[in-house]
Parts: sequence; C-alpha cells; structure tokens
Amino acid sequence: MTAEFDDRPLLEVEDLQIELMTEAGVVRAVDGVSFLIRQGETVTIIGESGSGKSTTAMGILRLLPPELAVLSGTARFQGVDVIADPRAVRDLRGRTVSLIPQDPMTALSPVHTIGQQLREAVRLRHRGLSRTETVSRSVELLARMHIPDPASQLGKYPHQLSGGMLQRVLIAIALAGSPVLLVADEPTSALDVTVQAGILGLLLEVQENTGIGILMITHDIGVARLVSDRIHVMKDGRFVESGEAEQIVNAPRDPYTRKLLAAVPRLGPWDEDGESPDAPIALGESR
Ligand SMILES: Nc1ncnc2c1ncn2[C@@H]1O[C@H](COP(=O)(O)OP(=O)(O)OP(=O)(O)O)[C@@H](O)[C@H]1O
Ligand SMILES: [Mg+2]
Repeated sequence: MTAEFDDRPLLEVEDLQIELMTEAGVVRAVDGVSFLIRQGETVTIIGESGSGKSTTAMGILRLLPPELAVLSGTARFQGVDVIADPRAVRDLRGRTVSLIPQDPMTALSPVHTIGQQLREAVRLRHRGLSRTETVSRSVELLARMHIPDPASQLGKYPHQLSGGMLQRVLIAIALAGSPVLLVADEPTSALDVTVQAGILGLLLEVQENTGIGILMITHDIGVARLVSDRIHVMKDGRFVESGEAEQIVNAPRDPYTRKLLAAVPRLGPWDEDGESPDAPIALGESR
C-alpha cells in the first residue's frame, strides 16, 4: 500500500471515442462517453450485445490493437492519461488497475498449475520476494477468495477446478498487485446463476475490505442492481442514461432504459426483492 493519501478519482474518462477499422469500414463503437470512478465505488456499464461495453473497457486498458482501433478523448487512472500516452498503461496494469476476464474456463493456461500462474502474478508485482514468501502470499490470496484448502489447490491444473473456483483464482491473480481498480467485463456471465451470486458477493466483500473501485460491465440488470453505485446505460456507443443505481432501476427516464427493464420479467422494487439477488435475471435482446 502506498503511504500517501490519494483523493484523485481512480478513473476519469472524458469524451472517449473509439473507432474500429473493420472489413466493412470504420465503425464508431464508442462515441463520446464520460464517467468517473472514485475509491470504493462500483460503476456499471449496462447495454445490449454490440453496444460498445467491451470496446470501452478494452480501450481504456489499451488492449485493443493499435492497427484496429483509433482512440480519442481522455482516460485518466489516478491522473495518468493513457489515451495521450499508451505506454503509461504498462506501469498501471496489475498495480493500479486489473482486469477480470469474462470466461474463467479459457483465461488460464491449461498446461500450468494454479500455483505456477498465481506465483508468477505475485512475483511480477512484488520483485524481491523469496520463494517461500511468494508461496505464502499466493496461499493467502486464495484464502481471501474463500477457496477451501488453498495450499493444496496450488498443485492443481485449471481443468481440475470448477468455473466458479477458477473465477476466484482469476480474481486472486487480479488482486496480486493490490490494484486500486478492477475492471470486470461480464465476470459471471459464463457461470451458473447460483455461482454468479457467490462471485459477486466476493467482489463486494473485497471492495468492503480494501476500498477498491470496480468498473462492472454487464448486460444483466440483476447483476447491475445488485452491485452498482452508479449505472450508465449504453446504446450504439453512447450513454443514453446515467444515474444512481436506484434511480436507473426504479425510475428510469430514458425510453431505452425503460425498454431494457421491461424486458426483465418480475423485477421487484429495489428494496423488496425477496427472490433476487440470488437469482440475477438475464436481460434478453430487446426487440
Ligand atoms: N474485432 C472487431 N471487429 C469488428 N467489429 C468489432 C470488433 N469488436 C467489436 N466490434 C463492433 O464494435 C461494436 C461494439 O462491440 P462490443 O464488443 O464493444 O460490444 P459489447 O457491448 O461488449 O457487446 P457484448 O454484450 O456482446 O459483449 C459492435 O458493433 C461490434 O460489432
Ligand atoms: Mg462485450
């Protein structure tokens, strides 16, 4: 942990535009979005397939190939603008911001053990730790993820763990460098509904304990209402509505947001949800 108190926003995105060079021509996948994440906040971008959510996330992490994507605007991580200086992101990844991938089944190397991959992440972020210290830190990270018998999991290969356990390992890897911000692009959509709730609960627990900020990307209003402080509703590369989570869910102003909510069966009021949050409801394609 750094000693200095830093009250700058964890992430400040202003007028982000991303043009993708596709075979069909130039697509403006992100068209002027702005948002802010402060310490301890979860900010969600929700929208249908193809609305530009992943392009936004991958763009600000500078994970889009330069020959495919042209970016403009600003994306400042604790003041460091990675649009103006793409190389700056190298020092930020893992230490300031980490990505939790969508599909835990394919995100890890199948030929290396959980321990090898976790130790590598710890080593990368903490140069100079001894082997014993690296191992004990790895075990500690798995324990924080409520993975049972963490020490014995280190010798296992990814195929020996369930999807939910693998996602916990990936969150442990993402947290290895004690970042201040997590970007989670559909972190639970590849998982069963009951497993989803456990992973979301874990993320909220980590946030409670560390004050980490979370950028959540989802198409699932059940997930959004469970975790978010603020929600941005994305359509065709733009935010059509932004606001406090409760306002967006209970009193949506934009017709498109209302349409998204209407596509969800039996969405109860915010504070009377007897059946959710255990069962986040998938948002269907609107028509
Ligand atoms: N590699 C690519 N080549 C061409 N077009 C792309 C590429 N990646 C994204 N696009 C286009 O950019 C737009 C935004 O896509 P993006 O993947 O960001 O949407 P999304 O909101 O994340 O959707 P999903 O919910 O399906 O993940 C879409 O019109 C998509 O067709
Ligand atoms: Mg996506």
